[in-house]
Amino acid sequence: MEFTLPIINNPVDHTKPVRPVRVPEAVETGKKAYIVTFGCQMNELDTQTMYGLLAGLGYEKTYDIEEADLILYNTCSVRENPERKVYGQVHSLKELKEKKPDLIIGISGCMPQSKVERQKLWERLPHVDLIFGTMNIHRLPELITQVQQTGQRVMEVWDEHGDIVEGLPVVREDKLKAFVTIIYGCDYRCSFCIVPQTRGRQRSRRAGYIINEVEQLAAEGYKEVTLLGQTVDAYGKDLGDGTTLASLLWRLNEIDGIERLRFMTSHPRDITDELIDCMRDAEKVMEQLHLPVQSGNDRILKLMGRRYNRRQYLELVEKLRANIPDLTLTTDIIVGFPGETEEEFEDTISLVKEVEYDSAFMFIYSPRPGTGAPNLPDHVPEEVKRERIHRLIEVQNEISARKNAAMVGSVQEVLVEGKNEKEPGMLNGRTRGNKIVTFPGGEELVGRIIPVRITRARTWTLVGEAEVPAVAGTA
Ligand code: SAH
Ligand code: F3S
Repeated sequence: MEFTLPIINNPVDHTKPVRPVRVPEAVETGKKAYIVTFGCQMNELDTQTMYGLLAGLGYEKTYDIEEADLILYNTCSVRENPERKVYGQVHSLKELKEKKPDLIIGISGCMPQSKVERQKLWERLPHVDLIFGTMNIHRLPELITQVQQTGQRVMEVWDEHGDIVEGLPVVREDKLKAFVTIIYGCDYRCSFCIVPQTRGRQRSRRAGYIINEVEQLAAEGYKEVTLLGQTVDAYGKDLGDGTTLASLLWRLNEIDGIERLRFMTSHPRDITDELIDCMRDAEKVMEQLHLPVQSGNDRILKLMGRRYNRRQYLELVEKLRANIPDLTLTTDIIVGFPGETEEEFEDTISLVKEVEYDSAFMFIYSPRPGTGAPNLPDHVPEEVKRERIHRLIEVQNEISARKNAAMVGSVQEVLVEGKNEKEPGMLNGRTRGNKIVTFPGGEELVGRIIPVRITRARTWTLVGEAEVPAVAGTA
């Protein structure tokens, strides 16, 4: 069927370098923008970048959707649920749009990256003015201007980027901790995963740009930086100049003012000895690793296309723990992958018991169009998937609680992040392992790294007492 659209910007020549981008200074117009973010940290950072770009058009961030002149949905395709929510929520904006005809509604992120999905969005949500993809974010100011000037709907989705856009402005909410993407896309092809389709092939940023950005963050007072990538530990492989995640971390470790470095997500295949040594020896690199396992069964791992088996994964964990004794280890697990039998699921349970993760993100398998797994036989019934995930969550919760309880009595180095909004007089902070600690204290401690003695453990968080002099501000 032929599909006609009023304006679809043709994918321009992607091979042309697109940096540096011209970024207008923030201007005041009184206009407000509201962005709803689904999905991973990378989407969160994209949202912060969109706020940065919108500031140049005179849009200020608002927390009240009703007063927005521009509403954007930054979407996620990794599972079906967040996609369904987007349809529901955007649909319900119809009334608001009728009341405010000048309101601009846009959809960005991973959903428009699929041809089928973006046509569906376009047809089913006719009050949406603008649809654009993950690789068109830097084009946002032009796209908005186009909508404003023509009064027509605009769609622009590039499938692949020739170059990485550097120098985009970012409006960060947090003043202490910042995300920095260092590698885009993914070259693995896990059979359940849509990310390679939505984010394209693996592209590393040049180290110089990253170092400049982190130096800038340090100058602005940031204390902690988390380096982001779908397979962050593959960083540098495509640069061909010998740069690795470890070599980058060592350089960032030198930057005054930055106290803590983290990175996520790591693929088990890309953890090198060099990286393990760096985590052990570089003072500012935290002893924390997010290492998705997905399944504990070899047949399923093979069908998933994960490129490691149970034994190799367990050996890697052993090596990591031997070198980094205080390592906080977390993971992602998928339950109910096509064909997963009860015994194969129990292999996942036994792996979880053996590894004893500090915490885990556990997901019910969700078939994604365009990936390989939906074509596999013997899909697991929904109720079986649900029953399995409940069992797994129970096992993991018990382990998380036990590991936290073992920390009672220890003194942890905590970066104080801010007030605990629910408990007056209490502060929140994070340990080197990224666990949340709540403790009594005054706001003058925010931004400092202080020793906190752990007095009590909950399943997911810790409670403690700061071991600082009674007179604040003397450090
Ligand atoms: N490397 C990426 C992985 C992206 S998806 C990262 O940065 O985290 C995040 C997690 O979602 C995966 O590790 C996987 O556990 C889960 N996931 C991905 N596709 C899924 C699917 N089709 N169904 C259920 N869970 C999925
Ligand atoms: Fe997805 Fe596997 Fe890459 S989970 S992001 S295809 S490593």
